[in-house]
Amino acid sequence: MKHYRVATIPGDGIGKEVLPAARAVLDRVAAHHGLSLSYDEFDWSCERYLAEGAMMPEDGLDRIRHHDSVLLGAVGWPGVPDHVSLWGLLIPIRRSFRQYVNLRPISVLEGVPSPVSGARPGEVDFVVVRENNEGEYSQIGGRAFEGTPEETVVQESVFTRKGVERVLEYAFDLAGRRGGRLTSATKSNGIVHTMPFWDELVAERASAHPDVSWEQEHIDALAAKIVLAPARFDVIVGSNLFGDILSDLAAAVAGGIGVAPSANLNPEREFPSMFEPVHGSAPDIAGRGLANPLGAIWSASMMLDHLGHAEAGAQVMDAVRTVLASSPVRTADLGGTAGTAEFTAEVIGKLP
Ligand code: NAD
Ligand code: IPM
Ligand code: MN
Repeated sequence: MKHYRVATIPGDGIGKEVLPAARAVLDRVAAHHGLSLSYDEFDWSCERYLAEGAMMPEDGLDRIRHHDSVLLGAVGWPGVPDHVSLWGLLIPIRRSFRQYVNLRPISVLEGVPSPVSGARPGEVDFVVVRENNEGEYSQIGGRAFEGTPEETVVQESVFTRKGVERVLEYAFDLAGRRGGRLTSATKSNGIVHTMPFWDELVAERASAHPDVSWEQEHIDALAAKIVLAPARFDVIVGSNLFGDILSDLAAAVAGGIGVAPSANLNPEREFPSMFEPVHGSAPDIAGRGLANPLGAIWSASMMLDHLGHAEAGAQVMDAVRTVLASSPVRTADLGGTAGTAEFTAEVIGKLP
């Protein structure tokens, strides 16, 4: 029997509600496939920060370094500044474990209404590949002359050849295995140094992938096209910040951010990869059992895929698709009346 150790970090708010849902689905599908999954749960969160002064213990990363994967709910809560919670937990995991690919699939599922007329199931099916380790997310910068009329804030972006090349290589390779089309999100018409560099590296990687047809789109125009013509995309690759924004936008096109999954991948498998829904802790609905667990369940399906159990992962998504296409059971964000537990039970009921 194949055995996997999964580190679970429910985190804050609805993270603590959607993570158990993903686990329940995993347990059911694992049993069917003769897989054994054991979980070590870590209470790293804003609550822990308020009680102990740190989001995770000093040796936190070492405690999860040897797990097969990490499953995370959401991080961030009012009362703890976001830069404290995120730089204290989420970002260190992504960076230390070299999870430089953030894979965010977007599909309009049958039975999930899209706010975009013309975004039909089966036609809108693309993946955002987001650079996840550098770019605009840097700690270099600062604030000076605070509280004076000269107050000044500086934020540096960091784009390295190695960092950009590796995520582009992943994206081109993925496009080659999918529909053979890649769109690069850029802003080379602006007064920025980073994007012309990004574009040059895209062109270089493209020459190594003649099987992939590619284009680049300015981020502003691309945002509009994702809304106006989402079916035309296959793989979209973008920097850390561009990828972040586009993935919420694209998730909305596919019915809402409660639906969207993500995989923070270390493609070389030197370290565990991390699977988490795209959404945050949703303080406005937390604690009421209302959260849509689909983003977390889909992320768990991506975890199975990554661990080499694609069939088990596909069964999870088949069960989700069956529920959405054939029953009215869905959470309020998708226009239904079910809570987290009811929707999860319905999905589990459709698993073999
Ligand atoms: P959010 O994703 O938490 O919420 C945005 C809106 O979407 C809210 O109205 C919320 O109710 C709704 N929503 C989100 N997930 C849902 C779900 N599963 N089901 C139903 N509705 C859902 O974004 P925010 O409000 O910008 O951020 C709240 C906190 O979460 C902040 O501290 C932020 O930094 C953090 N955050 C963390 C992550 C992460 O851990 N990866 C991601 C995004 C935001
Ligand atoms: C996400 C989130 C995070 C990000 C925030 C909370 C730092 O929005 O996972 O998309 O920007 O990476
Ligand atoms: Mn985001």
